[in-house]
Amino acid sequence: MSEARSLAFARPVRAGERIFVGAGACPGFPAACVADLCGLPVGAVLQSGGRDLLRILSVSWNSAGASAASGRVVLAEALEDIPAGDVTAEAVSRGPALAWITLSDKGAAGKRHDESGPLIAELVGEKLGLRYAQGFILPDDERQLRALLVDLALVQGFDFIMTTGGTGVAPRDVTPEATLSVIEKRLPGFERAMTAASLAKTPHGAVSRAVAGTLGGAIIVNMPGSPKAVRECLAPLLPTLGHTMDKLHGDPSDCATLRC
Ligand code: MTE
Repeated sequence: MSEARSLAFARPVRAGERIFVGAGACPGFPAACVADLCGLPVGAVLQSGGRDLLRILSVSWNSAGASAASGRVVLAEALEDIPAGDVTAEAVSRGPALAWITLSDKGAAGKRHDESGPLIAELVGEKLGLRYAQGFILPDDERQLRALLVDLALVQGFDFIMTTGGTGVAPRDVTPEATLSVIEKRLPGFERAMTAASLAKTPHGAVSRAVAGTLGGAIIVNMPGSPKAVRECLAPLLPTLGHTMDKLHGDPSDCATLRC
């Protein structure tokens, strides 16, 4: 992550402006900056001379049509005024990045105000200090959720992906099925901890089929839809989220010396 990157700004960029960064010049492509930012996760900051220049917001493709291969483009936010010209910058990552996804047909149709998603970002942010958080609302649709989970984990580089809603037995509750179809390592302890905490509050905790597991460098956790359930399910997980992420990212330290 700390290797130097060469950035060429084609024009001056203002603080707060959102720009596309492409790896090479491309006819008809409005890249304000040419740089290869491949492999950097969302929320990473490009820093030069101790100053924060750019924050990565998302990763996508620039279509070159059928005659050439498409190139990766990054949407980035300028963190200060940047003059035109060349600059060498280093990528830094301060804390984990979290995506919340609310599964709700009504929410996706704009018929229900969602409090649960933002609450997840607030509670995890208080505990871990997030470098970046982004929210999504989807209808209860298994394919859409599966596609988003894979993109957020394997392309965008989120560390935590937390869903809320769709864990029960209603006809359109498919969050656990979508999650099970993409995770690589299941985290049954996370699931049991949520169930135990839920049953301590309500017998309806038995209805949730929430799944947890890992995909690439991301920890994915399902939670029920209400803000109350989000608080109750997150409470037993918050103390171990940071350690679990460190282990997933390859921390070789000996857990025998770990203090909670
Ligand atoms: N878990 C906790 N901790 N607190 C709750 O209030 N509600 C339950 C259950 N799990 C609840 C809970 C209810 S009423 C349902 S129907 C299921 O989660 C599924 O909720 P979902 O479909 O919104 O995911």
